[in-house]
Amino acid sequence: MKIGIAETRRPLATLSLVLAMALASLPGTAAAQVTVFLPTEGDLQATLALPGDVRRGKDAYAECQTCHRTDASGRSAFNIPRLSGQHASVIIKQLMDIRSGLRVNEDMREYMHDSDLTLQDFADMAAYLQSLPVEGKIGQGPPELVPRGQALYASDCAGCHGEHAEGRPELFFPMLASQHYGYLLRELDLILSGERGNSNPAMPPILKNYAAEEKQAIAAYLAQLPAPGKGVAPETPK
Ligand code: HEC
Ligand code: HEC
Repeated sequence: MKIGIAETRRPLATLSLVLAMALASLPGTAAAQVTVFLPTEGDLQATLALPGDVRRGKDAYAECQTCHRTDASGRSAFNIPRLSGQHASVIIKQLMDIRSGLRVNEDMREYMHDSDLTLQDFADMAAYLQSLPVEGKIGQGPPELVPRGQALYASDCAGCHGEHAEGRPELFFPMLASQHYGYLLRELDLILSGERGNSNPAMPPILKNYAAEEKQAIAAYLAQLPAPGKGVAPETPK
């Protein structure tokens, strides 16, 4: 555990919303209820309520390109996630959680405190990023693990993240398809250890039963999966 980071965190969300979900009909989850931890101070709801402007969002995103790339396809080598095509609600929630320290990401947190980004900027950037096509190179895992990953995903994860890993914007479930292998693998470990800080409590009990190769298999499956509705199959980096 990184104690220093933990100490600087604000208390866990003051507001915890329990959503009763009709997941029974979906494949592969026993979870009938999902707890979504919302950041403090009502900023999440305030930002979600703001109409995002794609053009302004493009300008505001200029500050982020050094790390996340101009096309927002991320950087496999540095575990920087692809943001293009991700749900606006997910991007806003993650930004809020990173800003408040609930999700541990010291680089970005410092950066966001130093910059003068407003809630409107967050809404605009999220609208812009969601509108982007999924392009660029997505880091891939071992192809031979993909079938195993597909089976595990269908039984353990699809109930929340969707049959095609498209996510669920209204519940802040991220799209996982076409995300970098290395980033996914890293997040799975941070979610399991609790170090990510903001992840859904339903995930660690599932993940703790997995061998290393099973986590690799799921990540390999998701990385090569085309982003639903975005139409572009990920390209393997050379
Ligand atoms: C110094 C490099 C850096 C900069 C600058 C940066 N990011 Fe990030 N960002 C990262 C890294 C690294 C992660 C993944 C951290 C982790 O593993 O938790 C991340 C994660 C994210 C996530 C979470 C994605 C997900 O799938 O959960 C979002 C959203 C995001 N960044 C948006 C932005 C925006 C918008 C900006 C500009 C305002 C920005 N970032 C600037 C490095 C950066
Ligand atoms: C009960 C619903 C639920 C189940 C089941 C579930 N997840 Fe999640 N997952 C979530 C939520 C909610 C988030 C976003 C958490 C947050 O607010 O940061 C998330 C986030 C993630 C992330 C981080 C994505 C990113 O862009 O950073 C990964 C990776 C992930 N889940 C993988 C999995 C895998 C693999 C499984 C199956 C083994 C799984 N999840 C099962 C709800 C679920």
